[in-house]
Amino acid sequence: MSMEAKLAELRERLEKVQLGGGPSRLDKQRTSGKLAARQRLAILLDEGSFVELDAFTQHRSVDLGMDKLEAPGEGVVTGYGLINGRRVGVCSQDFTVIGGSLGEMHAQKICKVMDLCRKLGVPLVAINDSGGARIQEGVDALKGYGEIFYRNTLLSGVVPQISVILGPCAGGAVYSPALTDLVFMVSGVSNMFITGPQVIKAVTGESVSTEELGGAHIHSQTSGVAHFSYANEPDCLQGVRRLLSYLPDNNAEDPPVRDTGDPVDRSSPALRELVPSDPHRSYDMQLMVQELVDAGSFLEVHAGFAPNIITGFSRVGGRAVGIVASQPREKAGCLDIDASDKAARFVRLCDAFNVPLLTLVDVPGYLPGVEQEWGGIIRHGAKLLYAYSEATVPKVTVIVRKAYGGAYIAMCSRHLGADLVLALPTAEIAVMGPEGAANIIFRSAIAEAPDPEAKRQEKIREFRDTFANPYVAAARGYVDEVIDPAQLRPRVAAALAMVFSKQELRPLKKHGNIPL
Ligand code: HXC
Repeated sequence: MSMEAKLAELRERLEKVQLGGGPSRLDKQRTSGKLAARQRLAILLDEGSFVELDAFTQHRSVDLGMDKLEAPGEGVVTGYGLINGRRVGVCSQDFTVIGGSLGEMHAQKICKVMDLCRKLGVPLVAINDSGGARIQEGVDALKGYGEIFYRNTLLSGVVPQISVILGPCAGGAVYSPALTDLVFMVSGVSNMFITGPQVIKAVTGESVSTEELGGAHIHSQTSGVAHFSYANEPDCLQGVRRLLSYLPDNNAEDPPVRDTGDPVDRSSPALRELVPSDPHRSYDMQLMVQELVDAGSFLEVHAGFAPNIITGFSRVGGRAVGIVASQPREKAGCLDIDASDKAARFVRLCDAFNVPLLTLVDVPGYLPGVEQEWGGIIRHGAKLLYAYSEATVPKVTVIVRKAYGGAYIAMCSRHLGADLVLALPTAEIAVMGPEGAANIIFRSAIAEAPDPEAKRQEKIREFRDTFANPYVAAARGYVDEVIDPAQLRPRVAAALAMVFSKQELRPLKKHGNIPL
């Protein structure tokens, strides 16, 4: 065969693979409002940077008619490319080929990219759009999932792993995304569940639609499975590109620095007015975060889930910083089960990938209630203590207002290893709030007074004047600086620049035993 003929054969074979399940199934994909697997990669990656691997992989299954079934590309497009000039490994399941179902060879393609990511130290982005385990391949399909889960775990904390759900992701298939660092979903397109609506109807009698059961809304607001929810696929894929700009390629590197053009000595007079003098009134901590970080750099993570705590990536002086901040507008900023889980996981993500942590504290305590106690707030709350104590990245804490009791300790206090602790003059650091404290320690004095209510108010004032300020903690050295709110950004930027080069070694161990 001449070279020309060989090249013509190669072209023909490639064209066939690129057509996936063929024109009619691609049409069905389009009319169901979804992009094709390759279109998704074209949006995700820098133009022209995608290099496809294993285009000619074929299944070797013969049962249940599989011997007659062609599966171009084996239902998944894999390879590598660039995002903002940086290397990534990618997989994009192709629903037009046997429903993107995962068989032995489909899994082998994914595993090859995962192994490359681990060896090269580059992030993995996996786009999921699949009917799950390929039924015809039985235990070989299950083996495939098992090998992916194993690698997800090996890669965890070594390279960032991002899952983008752009179609169904059902049954045990959900556990690959669940093992990765961040999950992206799109309303009306993505769904994730262990057992679908039909099985649920048969077993429990509950009627629920696919979207209600496992759509982007429920997973980003209620279950916390998804960290990001978007209205459409292109925005979602652009979101992945932006997210990766805050993370290094792997755990041995630092996140990239970007010049944002926002001067670090910019003062914020508006912050003097933000925190109300009445401790019972709330305010929006988002405003403080936005004012503090480089303009436009805040990317909130888990925005809809457990809104009583804010987590997200940002930049200060161009350097990536992970923010954890109480949100007094939601549940008064209390720590509850979901907030503890959310913040602990984010702290560990930042620590794994060398992103310094900045914690803004206005926390009246752990959320009281039977539901919380029975739900295991002790176990879940402990995760946050563990995550902050375990984190060896630079840790800067700002006590904005309330910092009471165990929640004061949990929100990256000096005692859990904060490197620098700043406080605003509005800070109140105590075992509990003045009302609660006065009621307990002055109970008899209040009861025996001729006017108990007047006495109670007097004792609350007395407690507030003595303890509800930053100066007792500052006198002990638990707070390093008390600062003018207008100077928050310059002081935080200076603190982060100071602790940036921190190196901390811990005793060797196999791994700790975080309370899961
Ligand atoms: C083989 C599959 C398949 C699967 C879909 N297809 N899922 N083939 N194995 N798991 C095929 C269909 O036969 C069809 O082929 C094509 O893909 C498109 O599927 P449709 O049903 O036509 O698409 P749609 O109507 O959009 O429905 C999508 C769906 C549905 C909701 C995902 O296909 C479905 O329910 N699939 C089965 C889901 C499931 O139960 N999977 C197993 C989960 S358990 P043709 O030739 O007609 O185009 C699991 C265990 C993992 O995954 C365990 C890991 C530990």
